[in-house]
Amino acid sequence: MKYDGPLNTLDDWEDDLKQRYPEQDQPAEKAKDEFRDYGEQTRPGVREFYRQNHRYQTYDFVQQKRTEFLGLDRRAMTVWEAMEYLNQLVDESDPDTDLSQIEHLMQTAEGIRADGHPRWMILTGLIHDLGKILCLFDEPQWAVVGDTFPVGCKFSDRIVLAEFFADNPDSNDPRYNTQFGVYKPNTGLDNVLMSWGHDEYLYHVVKDYLPEEALYMIRYHSFYPQHRESAYDHLLNDHDHQMFQWVQKFNPYDLYTKSDQRPDVEALKPYYLELIDEYMPGKLAW
Ligand SMILES: [Fe+2]
Ligand SMILES: [Fe+2]
Repeated sequence: MKYDGPLNTLDDWEDDLKQRYPEQDQPAEKAKDEFRDYGEQTRPGVREFYRQNHRYQTYDFVQQKRTEFLGLDRRAMTVWEAMEYLNQLVDESDPDTDLSQIEHLMQTAEGIRADGHPRWMILTGLIHDLGKILCLFDEPQWAVVGDTFPVGCKFSDRIVLAEFFADNPDSNDPRYNTQFGVYKPNTGLDNVLMSWGHDEYLYHVVKDYLPEEALYMIRYHSFYPQHRESAYDHLLNDHDHQMFQWVQKFNPYDLYTKSDQRPDVEALKPYYLELIDEYMPGKLAW
């Protein structure tokens, strides 16, 4: 199956993230210039993906997508059904070595479980990418994955391949192209509109079921410009900063637990069905 966009598979974006943020790296210490050079090593498909993402993620676009999807009236599915549904996103480039979507979710959850974290955090690992079902609703790749960032204010030059924002109409719109744009200083992220993708969508599906720490992990796990680059401190409030410790705690499990050792999905299924039932029983609105 082929999904609309320049990436061979959605995983190309995450593989590229791993190149940008190698496991041993201390990103806070990384020089700005070094970050900027990154664009040169990016594979052409990934570059094209970011060109489209940065061109089309405007303030108006995000509002339009929120209206389109946040009514959550497309499907009713249990979490497990959503996992199986997402698993249709099969990798056509190298099905033998690449993990399925369920396998990535389980590896993330198993990594969190192995380190003795609370049950709600294990569940967060299990579900964090379910928003990628947007692809199955025929959304283009650039509106599902990729680093996320605020819209409605100046795009930070610390966002990957930020030069592509030159083609985004908001860059020339005086309402949106100042440091704060439509926002007040340190207004808090709850008041900030993020670029549209799988994080924000899933947050709205699950927001009534999980503790706040889990919701931050889900809603901001692709917000690399903040959790890795601290590029938007001027919009975060104190509470966001506290909660971002959890987003940062979560990130390595997402990025670095991918291994060739495939989890035994059938063997693990009973444990995870029980965990799902504890927090989010029955069908959810998607
Ligand atoms: Fe994700
Ligand atoms: Fe993930």
